[in-house]
Amino acid sequence: MKESINITIIDREDAPHAIEVPLGIDLNLMEVGKGSDLPIEGTCGGMALCASCHCYVESDHDIFDRSDDEEDMLDQAFFVEDNSRLGCQIKMTEEMDGLVVKLAEVGD
Ligand code: FES
Repeated sequence: MKESINITIIDREDAPHAIEVPLGIDLNLMEVGKGSDLPIEGTCGGMALCASCHCYVESDHDIFDRSDDEEDMLDQAFFVEDNSRLGCQIKMTEEMDGLVVKLAEVGD
């Protein structure tokens, strides 16, 4: 069992940020990004209610099994693509090792 995984978050200026994420403390991608001082607001605190953590999955991780709440929020978000996810709904598990996501633009 691994103790950490490595992921990459690409910011809105296309700069990649390699981040080592400890496992076993139930983090989600939004929390990891915020903790690394990336511009993810996470306004709703991870309740799938704000879309400020909207991102695109760029690696070939098959993680598009969205909840109804997430689908509903993405329906109202801007710039949604097939590979869109809400970062707060992506749990940091061992399977996420090598994950690459890009932050979506935030529309007002
Ligand atoms: Fe609000 Fe993810 S933090 S939807």
